[in-house]
Amino acid sequence: MQDASPTKLLIVDDLPENLQALDALIRGERREVHHAGSGEEALALLLQHDFALAILDVQMPGMDGFELAELMRGTEKTRPIPIVFVTAAGKELNYSFKGYEAGAVDVLYKPLDPGAVKSKVEVFVALHQQREAMRQQVLALEAARRQQEEMQAQLQHALLMRDEFMSMVSHEMRTPLNTLYLETQLRKMQLDRGNMAAFGAEQLRRMLSRDDRQIQNIVRLIDDMLDVSRIRSGKLSLRPGLVQLAGLLGRVVQDLTPQAATVGTTIVLDAPTPACGWWDDFRIEQIVVNLLTNALRYGGGQPVVVTLAVMADSVRVDVRDSGPGVALENQGKIFEPYERGVGSDAPAGLGLGLYISRQLAEAHGGSLTLSSVPGAGAVFSLTLPRTEAPPA
Ligand SMILES: Nc1ncnc2c1ncn2[C@@H]1O[C@H](COP(=O)(O)OP(=O)(O)O)[C@@H](O)[C@H]1O
Ligand SMILES: [Mg+2]
Repeated sequence: MQDASPTKLLIVDDLPENLQALDALIRGERREVHHAGSGEEALALLLQHDFALAILDVQMPGMDGFELAELMRGTEKTRPIPIVFVTAAGKELNYSFKGYEAGAVDVLYKPLDPGAVKSKVEVFVALHQQREAMRQQVLALEAARRQQEEMQAQLQHALLMRDEFMSMVSHEMRTPLNTLYLETQLRKMQLDRGNMAAFGAEQLRRMLSRDDRQIQNIVRLIDDMLDVSRIRSGKLSLRPGLVQLAGLLGRVVQDLTPQAATVGTTIVLDAPTPACGWWDDFRIEQIVVNLLTNALRYGGGQPVVVTLAVMADSVRVDVRDSGPGVALENQGKIFEPYERGVGSDAPAGLGLGLYISRQLAEAHGGSLTLSSVPGAGAVFSLTLPRTEAPPA
């Protein structure tokens, strides 16, 4: 790990010519030498920069080198900075520096021996660089540890989602299967009792259509899950053909009218203009069925209106209900897979319908958007580009 910033050195001397001479000796590549003409100036610089070493002239008017060193020792930021005193040869250094790390204080004698100065500074700079490298390693380790923790949390979350998903799927499958199971038990009982009146043509027809609905529910769940895995793996492909959209909407609305009746409402279709385009009719039907099923399910039993607007090179299908609508903070979320609105006591789904529908719209080069004022209903708008000839 390479530290890009230069190593900073501080030299303190009251005589400018001494500063110049010392600077010339210790200057080097990737080093920055700062000058201070007094102890006060030095303190200001010390607080501003991170120095690898401070070289202090002992004899200075005002604050001398020892006093400066004492102040440096008293401050957290400057305490670890190694100090080299410069003093005239022969002078007694009868001053004790308690509290300094061993080896953090050294002495150079005047007149300065260039070789000795250079090698001392080398040692301190090397020490500083080692410490810096170590610090970087500790930081990197810390970052790696945090990343690991984050991944752990994500994994945990994924596992939780999977468990939740499995219980959701089981529940969704269980409901229609339970109904089918009860039906078969009931029929067995009638048979055992020899009650053949329960198996008249009309009764059988009703039974079969009930069975059919439950089977369709299961098939739809499975198809939705398969669609999601196709979308996720990029294997969803469209089979476009010439589609007459107003006709398609008419058929879907008719198919869902009995379902609307069971929740006591109606679906109104407003599609006066036939609109032909090059789309995958199976997928477009899937989108519209999803939107209508949702409007019946979450639309508070209010009438649902489907409108078709035909533009020069696009069409828009609006599915509008007057139910409770979607809270602002959920308007983006409900298009994500497995996102279900909270507090909906309606028969549950897997939260895949809108996700799949938007993906299908986008695969057509179109879009699926929601506009809803909570309390005043929801409008889901499917927009599709339209060409009457197969696109290139
Ligand atoms: N017309 C609507 N009005 C209010 N909320 C809706 C409407 N359509 C969808 N939602 C909300 O969006 C959620 C996701 O819908 P969807 O993806 O179709 O999944 P599912 O129907 O399985 O819950 C629903 O659970 C519901 O909370
Ligand atoms: Mg749905």
